[in-house]
Amino acid sequence: MFQLRSIFLIALSCAHLVSSHPLLNRANYDKAGDSHWVNIWTTMPQLVEPANLPPIPFNGSTAVFGNTTIRQTLQVSLAAQEIRIRLSNAFGPNELKITNVTIGLPERQRVGVSGLQTKTLKTVTFNGGPDVDIPNGGMVVSDPIKFPVKAQSAVMISMYLAEGQHGFAITGHPGSRTTSYLAFGDWTGAKNLTDSSVQSTDHWYFVSGVEARLPSKSSGWPDLLLARMQKHEPTSNIAVLNQAAGGNRILQDGLGPNVISRLDRDVLAQSGAEIEKKLVAAYEQIATRVHALGIPLFGATITPFGSSASSDYVQPYSSPEREKTRQQINKFIRQSGVFDAVLDFDRVLRDPQVPSQLLKQYDIGDHLHPSVAGYQALADYFPLGLFE
Ligand SMILES: *[C@@H]1O[C@H](CO)[C@@H](O)[C@H](O)[C@H]1NC(C)=O
Ligand SMILES: *[C@@H]1O[C@H](CO)[C@@H](O)[C@H](O)[C@H]1NC(C)=O
Ligand SMILES: *[C@@H]1O[C@H](CO)[C@@H](O)[C@H](O)[C@H]1NC(C)=O
Ligand SMILES: *[C@@H]1O[C@H](CO)[C@@H](O)[C@H](O)[C@H]1NC(C)=O
Repeated sequence: MFQLRSIFLIALSCAHLVSSHPLLNRANYDKAGDSHWVNIWTTMPQLVEPANLPPIPFNGSTAVFGNTTIRQTLQVSLAAQEIRIRLSNAFGPNELKITNVTIGLPERQRVGVSGLQTKTLKTVTFNGGPDVDIPNGGMVVSDPIKFPVKAQSAVMISMYLAEGQHGFAITGHPGSRTTSYLAFGDWTGAKNLTDSSVQSTDHWYFVSGVEARLPSKSSGWPDLLLARMQKHEPTSNIAVLNQAAGGNRILQDGLGPNVISRLDRDVLAQSGAEIEKKLVAAYEQIATRVHALGIPLFGATITPFGSSASSDYVQPYSSPEREKTRQQINKFIRQSGVFDAVLDFDRVLRDPQVPSQLLKQYDIGDHLHPSVAGYQALADYFPLGLFE
């Protein structure tokens, strides 16, 4: 159907635009022998609104978080023996210098607390060192940490910023629904934050992901698709290039930074109908630009991320408003004619009884990321005729 030298496959969702897209995330399938890195916790990095900056005095006169320890807790979805963390400066216009980072289990295995189980404390390193400078717009992944976690358990990350971040444009996730703690001085190794400066805030700052090294039963869906294509004569000499990088870089790398960086900022500030309008506009922009290069563009529908009422893990991305937006965007992807072909990944992975949720066997456990069986289903579904 298409004579291709290259294909761009656009599979994005409002949630995933700025976090790593599970389907197209190189970081997820950064192979390490017979294991690979899988996200077990992510949050959507965004530009923190002025009102969601930390309380004064941590919101200083020229910088935020100068001489500050930020102690934050989060809940990972899957069990692992070895993990690594991601810190984001995606929206910072200048360099973010992180001085020290530790990880540990919080007291009583609870999120939202300030106390630490000291025996579990580990120093987090970056390229072997305790400190790291994250360039403006950038993201870093820590060195692997031998740090066993249980499924759906709480983890505490403490970071100390000697200088803080200059200016007031910082990266975070205001809707953490979890309490974080702030204190002047380096308390990254402390059992508790008890200094007189301690304050709490219900936001996350800079932390954007936890990845686990898990055994590779199989690869991501692009690799599974390639395996299928190689067995099929007409497609046996077509390469599949996984252009995906972690986070929002997928679209920056492939299609130029402007559309998507603008989209991130615009989209995140608003909700519902506005998001929908902007996403549609962005898809149209992408299609125009890709088509201008004579390259066909396939659109993939956004897969479900709803949690059932009985589940003990609620996917933080899920909300009735987002589900409505997902349905509208999927309708656009299926019906608009903007794409040369539509890959209905939603239909493949959703539970026919509850279309807002992944089918149980295709759910890795966090109600957002597909399981290996889910990736296999996507690869099996992919119509190879598109390449003939
Ligand atoms: C933090 O400081 C900035 C710059 O002065 C201001 O715009 C913002 O409203 C302050 N936010 C808080 C929560 O104090
Ligand atoms: C840490 O400090 C908080 C606040 O003072 C207190 O409620 C909590 O019990 C302390 N935890 C530990 C492990 O000392
Ligand atoms: C950082 O804060 C601690 C605790 O308040 C204080 O002892 C120390 O002098 C401060 N360091 C700097 C460089 O301001
Ligand atoms: C922070 O890092 C410095 C060196 O970069 C180190 O000397 C210090 O002990 C660290 N602090 C903690 C609490 O780990």
